[in-house]
Amino acid sequence: MNNKTFEGFLKQITYPSMEVLGIDVGGSGIKGALVNTLTAELLSERHRIDTPQPATPQALAATIYDLIQHFNWKGLVGVGFPAVVQHGMVHSAANIDDSWIGIPIDDMLSERSGCKVFAVNDADAAGLAEMHHGAGKGVDGLVMMITVGTGIGTALFNQGVLMPNTELGHLEFKKKTVERYSSDSVRKKAELNWKQWGKRFNESLKYYEKIFNPDLFIIGGGTSKKMEKFSEFVTVKTPMVPAQLLNNAGLIGAALFASFKDKKKRAQGTF
Ligand code: BGC
Repeated sequence: MNNKTFEGFLKQITYPSMEVLGIDVGGSGIKGALVNTLTAELLSERHRIDTPQPATPQALAATIYDLIQHFNWKGLVGVGFPAVVQHGMVHSAANIDDSWIGIPIDDMLSERSGCKVFAVNDADAAGLAEMHHGAGKGVDGLVMMITVGTGIGTALFNQGVLMPNTELGHLEFKKKTVERYSSDSVRKKAELNWKQWGKRFNESLKYYEKIFNPDLFIIGGGTSKKMEKFSEFVTVKTPMVPAQLLNNAGLIGAALFASFKDKKKRAQGTF
């Protein structure tokens, strides 16, 4: 057995769930793909379904279930969800229906699908993927992941350790919130050009920089594919890089989260 194979063998026995269905719930679309959690590779085509409007628990759960059915999947599922998710329970609802608050999302989706499902905040998911397999890998100090889409999501990592559910898109800023000032949906709705939006986003980054002094900003969400359009308007001292896993960071991170949770529960003997 050569070293490479031996390393693979060791990883296999320490990471039980290598193949996980990762799902990323966004304001406009829900995407899913099978993910190899050791390498972050997608093992299937990505499948996307429009987010139902209004995004009530019943409607969203049915869509997530359809996505699981599409893959004919019976294994572990990770769901990146655009809300505060603590211990399998939803605690906020900015860009989804308010009736989500108080819903035990893990139990609800697990019962409905017959799969083991673990949900995590979508920005935390994207950050986990980047810290393990992308732009944040091996970065020392404080890393701030910012996902820019319908909302603004944030994930903070110190020495690689996540501080979950930070929700810094809701910090008050310019008589609004950072999210209502500089999300991608604001850019589209207010018909801002890249220069106008880039300047707004720069102000938001400067605000975050002043408070947190991070070592690195990683930009995720749909905007990560368009950084060349606005990076010239960004003047923060902190280096800013696009998510290496681009728009797949959320679903890859959701799969990783589920594999970590599953491993922990197995070790605790909770399953
Ligand atoms: C939500 C966050 C989410 C972000 C990005 C915000 O409105 O409050 O939980 O991470 O949008 O989807």
